[in-house]
Amino acid sequence: YLVDKGNHRHFMEKEIHEQPEVISHTLANYLDFANGATRKIDLPFDFNSIDRLAISACGTAYLAGLIGKYWFERYARLPVDIDIASEFRYREMPLSARDAALFISQSGETADTLASLRYCRSAGMTIGAVVNVRESTIARESDVVLPTLAGPEIGVASTKAFTCQLSVLASLAVRAAAERGKISAEQEKALVRALSETPRYANQALQKVERQIEKLARELSHYKHVLYLGRDTNYPLAMEGALKLKEISYIHAEGYAAGELKHGPIALIDEKMPVVVIAPHDRIFEKTVSNMQEVAARGGRIILITDEKGAANATVETMDTIVLPDVPEIISPIVYALPIQLLAYYTAVFMGTDVDQPRNLAKSVTVE
Ligand code: G6P
Repeated sequence: YLVDKGNHRHFMEKEIHEQPEVISHTLANYLDFANGATRKIDLPFDFNSIDRLAISACGTAYLAGLIGKYWFERYARLPVDIDIASEFRYREMPLSARDAALFISQSGETADTLASLRYCRSAGMTIGAVVNVRESTIARESDVVLPTLAGPEIGVASTKAFTCQLSVLASLAVRAAAERGKISAEQEKALVRALSETPRYANQALQKVERQIEKLARELSHYKHVLYLGRDTNYPLAMEGALKLKEISYIHAEGYAAGELKHGPIALIDEKMPVVVIAPHDRIFEKTVSNMQEVAARGGRIILITDEKGAANATVETMDTIVLPDVPEIISPIVYALPIQLLAYYTAVFMGTDVDQPRNLAKSVTVE
């Protein structure tokens, strides 16, 4: 590809900033904004005739799939199994031709994901793929290709491909909900309207918090360990935040469901391990506030990523509070992905690592 960095220091920085635009292109492929409805997708199965959706993927694409599971189950009442592709292909789970399989891959070439696809093919399943590279092997071998329109992603750490994968999965979940009769036409309209606002909120989020996160990252770069916590769709996002940070800054990071704090990671909490808490003011916000109090009581330093209401109701002292615009629930993991990416990016910049080509990692892993 002849893609250049333009005025950006790194491809990753450029790709983070492209997100409002590429999310918008991707959503427009699946949603009819003018009529407030999802577009009919030419699937080889119908959402009413399948019992289950089996998703597998690797790395960041796997975490997008995990967020997708919350959406498909919540809105479409469709059970989803989600696996890391390298586990899926060997764990001998029961597969049925009444299940549909969905693979998520930026490159469309990841060896384990492709092997899982072939495994499902041999079980007679219908196969869909969310891919960014249209000419890839995974795209070619699928019954239906659900493209992400992120454009070429050069930075090894995935950013815009991730939020575009989320955009496809959210749109597909709303489509499935409508086809399965789990939401009314009014609810479909409201969800489509919410999704259509993602690019605007993503843009606002970047404008609002980037300089603050840059400052915070300078401080974060002095630590050796960071814990990320979240609930619901922000739990996979906590894992994605930790993955991004470790990949490019080499700081050890773990992402946990906030409710699991007391089942292990709390033993690690002290003033030397900052805790990034991803918590918009939603229906389980108070639960996360209790977790923050548990952290604070042990001298832990909290970086809270929330919205106005969350900031006003958090009742704990924080090292920093990053306040995003109030966004509708369905788009929150997409918008909250941006500060997570920026935090990893600027921390790596302060550490002086090779942000676009971190050591030992490859953009596309075509060997097992
Ligand atoms: C590599 C990349 C990750 C990516 C993963 C899956 O590990 O470094 O950024 O998430 O592969 O790649 P895929 O192309 O299948 O999405």
